Amino acid sequence: MGNYYSHNSTIKIKRKYSHKLNEFTDSRSPTEPTEPHEENLLQKYYLPNNNEDIDRQHAHHFVKRYLFQGYFSSPIEKKINQEGFKVLDVGCGAGTWLLDLANKYRNTDFFGLDIKPIFPNEIKPGNIKFIEADIFNGLPFPDNEFDFVHMESMHLIFTLDQWIYAISEIIRVTKPEGYIELSEAYTNFKGYGPIRIKIIEALNKACLQRGVDVNLASRLDNILQSLQGVTNINRDERTVILGPNGGQPGIVFQDLFINFCTSDLSLEIFSSLLNMTKDTCKDLFLNDLKNESKQSKAVSEYYLVRYWAQKINNN
Ligand SMILES: C[S@@+](CC[C@H](N)C(=O)[O-])C[C@H]1O[C@@H](n2cnc3c(N)ncnc32)[C@H](O)[C@@H]1O
Repeated sequence: MGNYYSHNSTIKIKRKYSHKLNEFTDSRSPTEPTEPHEENLLQKYYLPNNNEDIDRQHAHHFVKRYLFQGYFSSPIEKKINQEGFKVLDVGCGAGTWLLDLANKYRNTDFFGLDIKPIFPNEIKPGNIKFIEADIFNGLPFPDNEFDFVHMESMHLIFTLDQWIYAISEIIRVTKPEGYIELSEAYTNFKGYGPIRIKIIEALNKACLQRGVDVNLASRLDNILQSLQGVTNINRDERTVILGPNGGQPGIVFQDLFINFCTSDLSLEIFSSLLNMTKDTCKDLFLNDLKNESKQSKAVSEYYLVRYWAQKINNN
């Protein structure tokens, strides 16, 4: 089984899509490899590891569903529950999105794919099938197979060439006139206080060391446009103010972020990036960041965006 750090996968992607890479390459996207120790640590860090990661995925799904007032933004509501309608979730993680949908749309066939089998294999609705696979070996489905393909929360994981490869594969397996949807988050530091800036800059730096430009999540519509094969490209966006000034959603997103940053593994990474002891680092998240976000002038914006598009019918 390969993984998203696989050298061969990356070479394969670069060969296939090298003509597309220049359009999006950003001077902030270095590709130098990290030190082996650091790479192993970061690899573990960005893949779900334990029950806490799974709980976080569940909570994240439900607060997002609330903010968007729906499971998806693509115009499939009238068709989704029809017999034979097929939905794929790529990088489905614990399967939260699929489990929620499968209970609502009983006639639909749902498929989830993830490199890490943290999805439930036995206790699940009968209309979901989970598959363990690496997207960078190609999606293990024929062309034009699904009516709707969804992928969520890959902005800390994919490099530009991986985005291009993954989206191309998603387009390939979607039926003509079917829909694809990419659900992501990004920030532009608007309203951020000095502590949050310091933390986010460290996180972005760690991603850049792996060639991951987190800002790509704010312009996936441009990538969709450049890849052709899809039309009717849309962007559906919500803004959350992080912390208590953003009401209940702001508190939930802030807590999820702090929970993510204060695991043992995260603290190991952040303490090295910020040149602090683990205890000081933990204090930075649990006290300093929380206090900063309570101030009335703290209006740190965080953007949640769903890109959706329709596959072109060439016939
Ligand atoms: C941040 S989690 C998001 C999970 C889920 N989509 C959600 O929103 O809750 C990213 C997921 O992508 C999976 N992933 C990362 N690289 C992958 C690859 N090359 N092929 C398949 N899945 C991958 C990880 O194992 C993880 O479950």
